Amino acid sequence: DLSGPYIQDYFKERGYYVTSYEILPDEQKLIEQALINLSDRCHNDLIITTGGTGLSMRDVTPEATLKVATRNVPGISEAIRYESMKYTNRAMLSRGVSVLRNKTLIINLPGSLKAVKESLDIIIDPLKHGLEILKGEAHDCARKDG
Ligand code: MTE
Repeated sequence: DLSGPYIQDYFKERGYYVTSYEILPDEQKLIEQALINLSDRCHNDLIITTGGTGLSMRDVTPEATLKVATRNVPGISEAIRYESMKYTNRAMLSRGVSVLRNKTLIINLPGSLKAVKESLDIIIDPLKHGLEILKGEAHDCARKDG
C-alpha cells in the first residue's frame, strides 16, 4: 500500500498530527467498526480512507461510511470528482462520500496513489477551514484572497 503512507506524510508535512494508520480488508462491518472507533473513542478530527470506492462488488467503503454518518458533507466528494475529471474521465467511477460522524470528518478517496495525490491537492485548502469550523476555532468565512 503506497497510498496510506503518502496520506500520512502529506498531512504531517502540513502540520497535522497523524494518530493512526490501519489497513483493513474489504469488509463493510470491519470498516464501520474502525470508523466508529476512530471517531467515538479516539475523537479524531479527520479520517481519510483510501480505496474500495469503485464498482466492484468488493468495494464497500462508501456503504460503511454512510452507515456511520450523522451528517452528509457532499461538496467535498463532489469537488474531488469534478476536479479529477480533468485528469481522467474515470474519476466518475469513484463512489466515494464525505460525511461527519458527530465531530469527525470522514472522507473517502480512491485507492491508487495517483488518485490520492490528485484528490488531496483538490481538498487540502478548504479542508483546513472546514476543520477549524468543526472544532469551533473559526466562525468567519471571510477570506483574505477574496
Ligand atoms: N480520481 C483521480 N483523481 N485520479 C484517478 O486516477 N481513478 C479512478 C477513480 N478516481 C482516479 C480517480 C478509477 S480508475 C476508479 S476505478 C475509481 O476512482 C475507484 O477507485 P478505487 O476502487 O480504487 O476506490
